[in-house]
Amino acid sequence: MLIWIGSLLLLGTLLFYYLLQQSKKPSGRVGIFMMRLWNKVYMPLVKWSLTMTSSIKKGNKILDIGVGNGASSRYLSTLASEIQVTGIDISKQAITSAQKLQSEANIDYQIMDVQDLAFDNQSFDLITAFQTHFHWPNLTKSLQEIHRVLKKDGRVIFASETAKIQYFLPRHKQPTQFEKELKALNFHHFTVHQTAQWTCYIFTK
Ligand SMILES: C[S@@+](CC[C@H](N)C(=O)[O-])C[C@H]1O[C@@H](n2cnc3c(N)ncnc32)[C@H](O)[C@@H]1O
Repeated sequence: MLIWIGSLLLLGTLLFYYLLQQSKKPSGRVGIFMMRLWNKVYMPLVKWSLTMTSSIKKGNKILDIGVGNGASSRYLSTLASEIQVTGIDISKQAITSAQKLQSEANIDYQIMDVQDLAFDNQSFDLITAFQTHFHWPNLTKSLQEIHRVLKKDGRVIFASETAKIQYFLPRHKQPTQFEKELKALNFHHFTVHQTAQWTCYIFTK
């Protein structure tokens, strides 16, 4: 009996770490399946968070980080005319899937790590990250890169499930703790919006 319980616990732990790894960097058929599942679960979060800002304007250049199969980038590309969206993800499988689903000419997808962005300084008007920032190995370095490629007065939107922030980033349990870190990196005008499940941070350079 004890052996059975032990085996079940071990299996459960292995499954948890496997799914966590997929969430950090989707791969293979399971990754493709997970990304489709995220579209259902996270697109309402994406749409809700984008109602919190009126900053998307004609001709804006947007960087969407950690795009999975690109659903958020496709949505962003429809929000104003002449928008250019660049969607990046560390996972090759994610970018391959995003490119397969792509039908819009104003989106460009690239495999890239947020910690090392291959863009010129001050390239983007808006930078978004949906359900991903808590997975980045070095959040400070990632934010420095975001600051570098964001235009002056440009805006950043991070939105994710509150439970994930609390689990993966316990130092940000209180939004004021994150605000302090952002101020030290020269970001301004921090606002936080919350529902029972979601948190959306908006801040500017
Ligand atoms: C939970 S998924 C969310 C995907 C998508 N934003 C959505 O809402 O469906 C997290 C995504 O962030 C990506 N990611 C994780 N670390 C990253 C990094 N350092 N740079 C870029 N993308 C990263 C993963 O590959 C994965 O596709």
